[in-house]
Amino acid sequence: MYKEKPLAFKTLGPSPSTQFAVVNDIHGRNEVLDKLLDLSDLANQDFVVFNGDMVDNLLSENQMFAGFMDTAIKRFASEKPMFYSRGNHETRGPFAIEYPRYFPTPTGKLYYQFHHGETGVIVLDCGEDKPDTDMEYSGIVDMDRYRTEQASWLEKAVEDETFKNAKYKVVICHMPPFGGWHGEQEILDKFVPILNRAGVQIMLSGHLHKHIIKQSSQEVKFPIIVNSNNNLLKVNLTSQKGSFQVVDQQGKVVDEVVLKPLR
Ligand SMILES: [Fe+2]
Repeated sequence: MYKEKPLAFKTLGPSPSTQFAVVNDIHGRNEVLDKLLDLSDLANQDFVVFNGDMVDNLLSENQMFAGFMDTAIKRFASEKPMFYSRGNHETRGPFAIEYPRYFPTPTGKLYYQFHHGETGVIVLDCGEDKPDTDMEYSGIVDMDRYRTEQASWLEKAVEDETFKNAKYKVVICHMPPFGGWHGEQEILDKFVPILNRAGVQIMLSGHLHKHIIKQSSQEVKFPIIVNSNNNLLKVNLTSQKGSFQVVDQQGKVVDEVVLKPLR
């Protein structure tokens, strides 16, 4: 108190608009996280989203903080909210079981929803990318049933009145529903039909370490932004338009998706 200003934390208050930054697939590269946060206009962001794979695996509390969280705290997390969509890599390692204690959610699960401004956000927990029987998991994961259980929750989540009446409906899920491998196929089969029926407008993903924007189709009725492991996603949702800008490490806007508000 005598040496520095008292600490202050800005919560998610009422707001006419919603602005946030998303990073993903950092895999412990603090210098990249720092660089992307430099370009994120942090002072004006309402919150920051970590969209999975912030580390290769979770080994200990020290390793988790050293991998990304110390940087997050230094840059913003002691002053403004962050949301986390667990990646497949955060399910690995002896400390993975402790992860939920550090990143609690309103549902007590790692899938949850929140509302900010006129925007409804659903955060999904994609699970692992490989089949449960893969040797990587030593027979100790049960992701298929976990995603089935999550789909039952999702059926109810999209019926939430605040979500139904939102001007923007955004879903955050580390793995995209491209069906490239088992986990992605599960997301396509179990989550996408519910999200299609609910009129979701966009999904924000990562995982593939490359930049892809997939436009809506008969199968997936909303665009999907796969943010690369080296870019930043800046989101600005106002009563006039919703902008999702992909920004590279030189600060250049390399792609953009623009949405109209639902009402
Ligand atoms: Fe991943």
